[in-house]
Formats: sequence, C-alpha cells, structure tokens
Amino acid sequence: MGFKVVPFIDLTRHYKEIQDEVFSAVRRVFEKGRFILGEEVSAFEEEFSRYCGVRYGVGVGSGTEALYLALKAAGVGEGDEVITVANSFIATALAISQTGAKPLFVDIDPETYTMDPNALEHLLRRQKAKGGRRRIRAILPVHLYGHPARMDSIMDLAKRHDLVVVEDACQAHGARYQGRKVGSFGLLGCFSFYPTKNLGGYGDGGMVVTDERRLSEKLRLLRCYGEKEKYQHVLKGFNSRLDEIQAAILRIKLRYLDQKNEERRRKAEIYRRMLKGEGFHPPVEDEKARHVYHLFVIRTKRRNGLQAFLKEKGIETLIHYPGPIHLQRAFRELGNSKGDLPMTERYAKEILSLPFFPEMTESEIEEVVKNIRSWIR
Ligand SMILES: Cc1ncc(COP(=O)(O)O)c(C=O)c1O
Repeated sequence: MGFKVVPFIDLTRHYKEIQDEVFSAVRRVFEKGRFILGEEVSAFEEEFSRYCGVRYGVGVGSGTEALYLALKAAGVGEGDEVITVANSFIATALAISQTGAKPLFVDIDPETYTMDPNALEHLLRRQKAKGGRRRIRAILPVHLYGHPARMDSIMDLAKRHDLVVVEDACQAHGARYQGRKVGSFGLLGCFSFYPTKNLGGYGDGGMVVTDERRLSEKLRLLRCYGEKEKYQHVLKGFNSRLDEIQAAILRIKLRYLDQKNEERRRKAEIYRRMLKGEGFHPPVEDEKARHVYHLFVIRTKRRNGLQAFLKEKGIETLIHYPGPIHLQRAFRELGNSKGDLPMTERYAKEILSLPFFPEMTESEIEEVVKNIRSWIR
C-alpha cells in the first residue's frame, strides 16, 4: 500500500459526529426568525462565560474584534502603548494598532513560547527609567498553541506597575493555569471561534469575557453602534456581533469541548512518546499549566528540509508563524529590526506544526512519525 495523505486538520470528522444536533439547532434559529442578538447569543454568552469562570460574556464578530473591543473598553487609545509578543497571529498586534495605540514587543520564554515575564519586567524597568512608563497602558499576553502564559508573574507585574491585562486566549479555550481557566485572569479575556479553534463555529465569531459588569455593558454598546436604546447612541460604536446561527452551533460544540481537549492531550502524548529520542523538541507543559494543544508544534534546526520532505509524502504541516510580527512590513513604522527579539526570531525558523486535531487516528499519527523517522535516517 502506498503512503496515506494526512491532512493538517479535518473539520468534517467532528461535524459528522454532531450533524443531527447541529441541524436541529440551526433549524430552531430559522424557525424563530431572529438572526441577530437573540436568545441563542444570550444563552451562549452565559454558558461560555460560566465555563471560563467569569461573570459576563459579550459575543462579537471575531477574535480580532474581541481584542480590539476589549482594548477600547479598557480605555486604550491614541498615543498609548500595549506590551505584547511578536510570535502570535498578526491579529494580536492589529487589534492594538487599530485602537491607535502602539504595540511594544517583548521576547518569549524558550520553554512555552509565551511572554517571558523577565523580558516584560526588564522592559517595564527600562521604560520607567526613561520616564516613559505612563504611555504604557496594558499588557496583552497570548496563550499560544493552547499553552497558558505565565499568568502569576504577569499579573504580579501588572499590579505593581498599575497596568491593565487583556488576555489573548484565542488559541486556548479551556486551558488552565494554577487550576484557573485562561481568560479569567486579566480585566478582560478574548476568544476566537474561528472554525479551526478548539471551540470553533462554522464561520467567524468571538467573545470577550470579564468579571466587571461596567465593562460588559460598555462592550455591549461598543459592539452595536453605541446604541443604548433604539436610535439612541451614547458612544461611537461598531457593528461586531456574534450571530444567532453561530451561537446555536457553538452551544452544542461547547458541550464537547472538555472531551475534545482531553482527546487532544491524549493524541499529544502519543506523538510525544513516538517522537522521543528523535532529537526534536516536543511541546512542553509547564507544571502549573494544563495545555489544551490547539497545535502540536515541534522544533528542529532542519525545519525547512523536513517540511518539504513531509509535503512530498502527502503530509501537510504548517508554520505558526514563519514571520514574527515585529518584522512584518505592515509594522515597519515601529522601527523594529532583526535581532530585537532573539528567541522569537530563532524559533520562527525552527518551529513546525504537525497534523493535529482531536479526531486524528492513531494510525495517522504513526504515519507522520514513520515519515519523520525515515527522513532522519
Ligand atoms: C492568537 C490569536 N489571536 C487572535 C486571533 C484572531 O481571531 P479571528 O481569526 O477570529 O479574528 C487568532 C486566530 O485567528 C489567534 O490565533
């Protein structure tokens, strides 16, 4: 038998498991005839915020808009600075610049690829010495690949420097740090429901979660034209809403999230066991963290050769992300240059995301590993 093609991800497999439930939920929305900000969105906001361990949830159009609106709600705007990381999806930094603020990037922890609290502390000290700290308003850590950032140290630094924390939890639904769910540490937590996410809809969607009622109310205004009552606009808002159909689907998928995250952890263990001793750096799980493996990312100095070889064998891999944000043309005006973030830049050349999703079969994992082994030898 020839080789078998292994897809990076196959969303149809979960869909086939739940299609009857999905169709009846979608039918329910059509039969009610309400498509924007109805009962499904309210119910999902309540269910998902409870899942995260916070009081309020506000459904919005996407993860990017969740970040943007969360920063706006926190009062970030023109002339402010927000500290984040450069090894994330570009949306993290776009959301900052869309508010008129400037992203300041810090390097990452070499084990978990998330914001390095030492680098953060160093930057805060340096800015303070320059007398420029007042422009920094917020810290935006990213729970990358499903692994939480080091929230104990980050929250501690934020407190000491009187800064707001907004979490980018777009890749980490259900991940925990010291037993607590991500999204519940900062003033605001942001999620994406893009279809490939651990909790993904069948279209775009996002949510901001918060414990502060005042902020949830502001977010409700911001997402809907700043409208308090019909045609009464109290601030300059936007149109960014999770829709009823997506909310109805996400309510069903939320019921499977823990089970699917467990499945991800089990598959990650299988990969890890099979790759042991082959000289790759598999993902690390911090002892305080519970990883939910949005992606399974390994590291090798010979990344490009391996990726090309696997492609030839019909095995699809991706790189998250090949070009760090601080070196992207779109952010040229920030004046960053190569060498600014050594760890981020080095890892961008070495990381490789292997095919990974909860419904992946063990024989598919074996096929990937078998090919990796044959490439080494
Ligand atoms: C870390 C991170 N932040 C933000 C986003 C933006 O989310 P969306 O695609 O829903 O706008 C994504 C995903 O795409 C992401 O992975």
